[in-house]
Amino acid sequence: MRILSGIQPSGRLHIGNFFGMMEPSIRLQDEGDAYYFIADYHALTSTHDPAALRDHVRNLAIDFLACGLDPEKATFWRQSDVVEVTELAWILSCVTPMGLLERCVSYKDKVAQGISPSHGLFAYPVLQAADIVIFDANVVPVGKDQKQHLEVTRDIAQKFNDRYGDGLLVIPDPRIREETAMVPGLDGRKMSKSYENTIDIFEETEKKLRTKIMKIVTDSTPVEESKDPTESYIVQLYRLFAGGDAVAEMEASFRAGGLGYGHYKQQLFESIRDYFAPMRERREQLVLDPGYVDDVLAEGARKARLQAKVVMDRVRNAIGM
Ligand code: ADP
Ligand code: TRP
Repeated sequence: MRILSGIQPSGRLHIGNFFGMMEPSIRLQDEGDAYYFIADYHALTSTHDPAALRDHVRNLAIDFLACGLDPEKATFWRQSDVVEVTELAWILSCVTPMGLLERCVSYKDKVAQGISPSHGLFAYPVLQAADIVIFDANVVPVGKDQKQHLEVTRDIAQKFNDRYGDGLLVIPDPRIREETAMVPGLDGRKMSKSYENTIDIFEETEKKLRTKIMKIVTDSTPVEESKDPTESYIVQLYRLFAGGDAVAEMEASFRAGGLGYGHYKQQLFESIRDYFAPMRERREQLVLDPGYVDDVLAEGARKARLQAKVVMDRVRNAIGM
C-alpha cells in the first residue's frame, strides 16, 4: 500500500489540520509506504510574499516532525523539489474537461470570498492529481473538505487511462475518518484559517490557548440547569483529546447541571495542553536544529524524485514523447 498526502504551507497549523490530515498520516506511516509533502506550489495560489512562504514551509516541516512524522518511515519533502509534478500537471490538463474543474466547490468558494481567481487557482485540482498519481499512491488520508478534489483526481486518472492505456495510472482512494471528518471551530463552523475560528496546535503561550478556548460559543443555559452535551462544541472537541470514560463523565455532568460552561472549557484547555505537551517539547528541540530539518527534506526530495521518474517515464512513453 502506498500512502500519500500533502498539506499547504499557508500559516499556522490548527487542530482541524491535525486530526483531518496529520494524525491519520502519522498513524498510517506504520502500515505502508508513506509519502508526505509540503504543497508549496499550491500555496502560490494564495501566498504571494516570498519571505512568508519560506517561513511557512520551514514551520510546517518542524511542526509535522514534532507531531511524529518519522523520516525513517516516511518520505517527507517539499513539493517544489520534485519539479516533475508540474510537467505531469500539464499533461493531465490536456485530458481534463473544463467542466470538471468548473464544478469544484473550493474554487467557487474562494471566488465567492472575493479572491480574484488566477489560472493556478482554477487548475489547482489538476496539480493535486499530479501530486498523487506521480507516486502511484493508492491511499490518500485527508479531511472531508478534500473529498471532491480526490474525486477529481480519480476522474482525471481514469480519463488518462481511457485515452492512453488501462492501468497506466493508479486510481487512488481517499481515507477520511468519520470521527474527525469535520473538526468544529470556536464558532461551531468548520475549523478553518479562513474563518478565523481556529485553535492552533502550537499556540504561542498557554494563556493564549486558554483565552481561545474560553471563546468557544455556547448557549445561555444557566449554571444550575441541565445542559445538552450532544450539541456542544466543547464536548465535540473534548472527544478528540480525552478517553471514552472522561468524555462520558463530562456528558453526565452536563446533564446533571450545577456547573457552568467555563468549568468544562477549563477541562478542555487542560486536555489540549497536555496532549500537545510532548510535541511542543520536541518542536523546541527541532527549532534549535535547522540543519536536521534541511537534511530530512533534502533526503526526502531525493527519494521522491527517484519514484516520480518511474511514473514520468511510463507517462512520457505512453503519450508519445
Ligand atoms: P484551512 O481550511 O484552515 O485553510 P486547509 O484547507 O489548508 O485548512 O486543510 C489542510 C488539511 O487539513 C486538509 O487535509 C483538510 O481536509 C484538513 N482540515 C482542515 N480543516 C479541517 C477541519 N476543520 N476538520 C477536519 N480536517 C480539516
Ligand atoms: N489541497 C490539499 C489541501 O488544501 C493539499 C494537497 C495538495 C494535497 N496536493 C495534495 C492533499 C495531494 C492530498 C494529496 O489540504
